[in-house]
Amino acid sequence: MVTNLADLKVRIDSALAEYLPTDSAIAQDVVDAMRHGVLGGGKRLRPMLACATAQASGANPEVALSSGCATEFIHAYSLIHDDLPAMDDDELRHGLPSAHVAFGEATAILAGDSLHSMAFQLIAQDHDLAAETRIEMISLLSQAAGWAGMAGGQCLDIMAEGENLSLSELKALHAAKTGALIKASVQLGYLSACGTTAGDPKFTLLSDYGEQIGLAFQVMDDVLDVTQSTEQLGKPAGSDEALEKNTFPKLMGLDAAVVFAADLIGEAKSKIEFLGEDGRLLADLAELVVNRNH
Ligand code: IPE
Ligand code: IPE
Ligand code: MG
Ligand code: MG
Ligand code: MG
Repeated sequence: MVTNLADLKVRIDSALAEYLPTDSAIAQDVVDAMRHGVLGGGKRLRPMLACATAQASGANPEVALSSGCATEFIHAYSLIHDDLPAMDDDELRHGLPSAHVAFGEATAILAGDSLHSMAFQLIAQDHDLAAETRIEMISLLSQAAGWAGMAGGQCLDIMAEGENLSLSELKALHAAKTGALIKASVQLGYLSACGTTAGDPKFTLLSDYGEQIGLAFQVMDDVLDVTQSTEQLGKPAGSDEALEKNTFPKLMGLDAAVVFAADLIGEAKSKIEFLGEDGRLLADLAELVVNRNH
């Protein structure tokens, strides 16, 4: 049993390092760039959510390590691609040169592609999980990562630069580009503990929790882009304004955006009240979404 988020993060960091390849007979650069993208840093929110959800659902949090790390691999790939010149063109990530700066654009793109594949490989090869469970996980994760989730949201984010989206459009954008993967992390944690999602009202409540903290997470990411320094963020502050992105602070004002995120977190916590003390780590993670400085 894990009792605090710091211990959980240490466990996840070591699992990520073990899952990643170290050597390649044909393309060492791609492996090095994959390791740079994942091990360069990160809060590990998504795998922490998976493991904490598994524990809250009555299992050992270790059962969610493979699927939790799979969500982190998708996330790390999305950041490598997000920083590319064709997307946000940001040269700093986790206080280090972005992958394309360190390894070149082609290698960075391919490292992202390889992390995407590895995510599904990790789940497919976890023989501690039932085959049906692995298929349901792969189905959920692929939907969250693809055109209807992260990748689709990223497309809308880029296409809408310089335009003014409505509030409902911006909510849909953020729910897809960031919310979908965060929600999926919770859902995979549940699946790793319970095997199937079929007809369980607790799965719906946990999914709602994931959806709300997922949206709040991107609202706060927008806020921090305005309020924090580049040194604090480890990525270029003010990137959103420079790229004329649609963000919550721009649309509703900074203070209202912070209140909106806090309200979402309040709602998310109410969804997991049924867990009682078993939901403490999930409540802590919800708080972390809004109480952070990077
Ligand atoms: C940043 O995500 C990009 C978004 C999806 C908002 P995180 O803030 O979770 O990134 P790291 O991995 O902790 O740096
Ligand atoms: C990125 O959103 C969301 C992803 C799916 C990667 P941002 O472009 O705001 O993320 P940061 O601020 O560069 O981390
Ligand atoms: Mg972006
Ligand atoms: Mg970006
Ligand atoms: Mg951002």
